[in-house]
Formats: sequence, structure tokens, C-alpha cells
Amino acid sequence: MIHDRILYVPEYYDKHHEFAFPGWESPEIFGRKAPIEAEYCSGNGAWVAEKALAHPDRNWVAVELQFERVRKIWSKIQNLGLKNLFVVCGEGLTFTKYYVSSGSFSATYVNFPDPWPKDRHAKKRLLQEPFFSEISRASSPGAITTVATDHADYARQTIEALLQNPLWVPCFPSPHYITEYEGYGASYFEELWRTQGVPLHYIQFANRGVQ
Ligand SMILES: C[S@@+](CC[C@H](N)C(=O)[O-])C[C@H]1O[C@@H](n2cnc3c(N)ncnc32)[C@H](O)[C@@H]1O
Repeated sequence: MIHDRILYVPEYYDKHHEFAFPGWESPEIFGRKAPIEAEYCSGNGAWVAEKALAHPDRNWVAVELQFERVRKIWSKIQNLGLKNLFVVCGEGLTFTKYYVSSGSFSATYVNFPDPWPKDRHAKKRLLQEPFFSEISRASSPGAITTVATDHADYARQTIEALLQNPLWVPCFPSPHYITEYEGYGASYFEELWRTQGVPLHYIQFANRGVQ
């Protein structure tokens, strides 16, 4: 269901295909045609709200699993009067797979995804197959995907997964990440790790646009 600029994607559900997504240009969503950039794992939405404010010519989508954090993003939409930011309350892969039409996004971002640091939990990480294949399908040709993480092993795993996927081309030379990204924007976790001196990894790949 879509209500007040939020799309709710249920987690345990087998009828996603029955929902008729109205399309990005519908009045319930953006009500206009413009390039769409999506941030997954948005948390309290500080990063994406700043982007939406700075780039009113683009449409922005924030995807966040936890309702309490979605509420914080929604409050930013109200307080800042952001007509170009739409929120998805749901799981990133499920949302992309069942609700996003091919070629929708001109850029995607994942800022500080949960690292699941224990070895036995690493399989729960979002950034692996089939997420990258779905993001490639949902992206337009040449669209850039950017991942920011403080977690070295997650960075390594992400880069490996993207290098192995023929749909993606690295933007940065080996080791395929940078540690400083001027003008990238600030999120809650980016500021937290930066003040603690934790090294950050910014990974960027371009979508080949071949399905
Ligand atoms: C470490 S926080 C980072 C939040 C924000 N990006 C930041 O940098 O401050 C990770 C966020 O991702 C959300 N999350 C985890 N798994 C997710 C998934 N599969 N789909 C969407 N959001 C997810 C969590 O609820 C949490 O808010």
C-alpha cells in the first residue's frame, strides 16, 4: 500500500505481484518525470534528505526496513517540504525485485549497510547476489552504484561480488575503493565512524546496461 508518500512492502507475503505499482510519475509518488536516484538502508534519512534538498531537479527514493527510521525520514520530508523524496518501508531486495520496473534508477547508493560482522551471519548481508543483479536491472545503462562502508571485510566482499558480475564495471582503479569522497554527503553513521577515526571505503561501479 502507498500512504502519504510511503510505500509499505510487507516482509512475509506471497502476493507482491498482485499490487499494481502506479508508476513513478503518478501523483501518489512524484507526480512528475525526472531522473530517480535511490538510497538503500537509509536509516534516519539524513543523507538522502540533504541530497533531495540540494538537487530538486531529481527524484529521490529512500529504502529502509525499520518503521521507526522510516518515521524519521517521513518527518524530514514534512519539515523540509521535500516533494522529491519518497520513502519505501521494506526490505531492499524485495522492493527492487517486485516493485521496480527495469531501467528506473539513474543512480543508486547504499550507505553503511548493516555489516553482520560475525562469520556465521555474513550470509545475511544485503550486498551480494541477487541484489546486484536486481539493481542492475532496475538501473538505466551507465547508472552508477555507490556503496559506503566502514567494514573492511564487507568492502572486500562487495567488490568481489561486483567484479564477478558482468553487468558492472569498476569506476575506481584497483583496489576499487577510495577512502575520502569530497562532497559525498554526510549520514549519521558516516559522521559516527569519521569522529572515531574508523577508515571508510567508498566503492563505485557503473551499470553496463546489458541484461
Ligand atoms: C548501519 S544503518 C545505516 C543507516 C544510514 N545509511 C547511515 O549511514 O546513517 C543500516 C540501516 O539499514 C537498514 N537495513 C538493513 N537491512 C536492510 C534491508 N535489507 N533493506 C532495507 N534496509 C535495511 C537498517 O534498518 C538500518 O537502518
